Amino acid sequence: MEFFIDTADIDEIRDLASTGLVDGVTTNPSLIAKSGRDILEVTKEIAETVSGPVSAEVTALDYDGMIAEGRKLAKIADNIVVKLPLTEDGLKACKTFSDEGIKTNVTLCFSAAQALLAAKAGATYVSPFVGRLDDIGQDGLELIADIVEIFENFEALETKVLVASTRNPYHIVEAAKLGAHVATIPPKVLRSMYSHHLTDKGLDTFMKDWASTGQSIL
Ligand code: G3P
Repeated sequence: MEFFIDTADIDEIRDLASTGLVDGVTTNPSLIAKSGRDILEVTKEIAETVSGPVSAEVTALDYDGMIAEGRKLAKIADNIVVKLPLTEDGLKACKTFSDEGIKTNVTLCFSAAQALLAAKAGATYVSPFVGRLDDIGQDGLELIADIVEIFENFEALETKVLVASTRNPYHIVEAAKLGAHVATIPPKVLRSMYSHHLTDKGLDTFMKDWASTGQSIL
């Protein structure tokens, strides 16, 4: 499973990319707003920091606007993936970009029917939002299971399932068990994946026992 980080915070991206555990980055208009940066500048900086795919989202709602914005974003760097909303115009724009060989991430997916349309439009990635479905009392991971099952039925569909709106390590582990290709993870959630109280307790015991030997490896 690939791990993308879901942030436009360049310091967080630099820090987490240095671990070698990050395969890409996803952003959205809310994350750009939170960063307080200019979208074109910060996207360029992110694309220079990680070699993997960097999703940059259009903000136009109509096909022509999405095409114009998407082309501009795609020109920023070779690793830019144009992120488009799952609307009729978004899917039309997805088909156009896909025919031109521009990579796309179709976002705000909340149903298997929507995911199927994104795949038929040639999306490189489709982003189902698990956390936001959980928030309204639905099972976000059940949607991931449905989409993975559907995509596995058709070898010709090359669209990758990118699990978005992840809120905790459980989402990531369950999505991995279901065979989702990618999870985009907020920095805080990625860091929480390191932690286990038995790791801390075990290390503490090892260090105390080691100190009692008076030895040094170096
Ligand atoms: O990038 C889209 C998605 O991951 C947003 O997550 O937590 O705002 O639902 P969230």
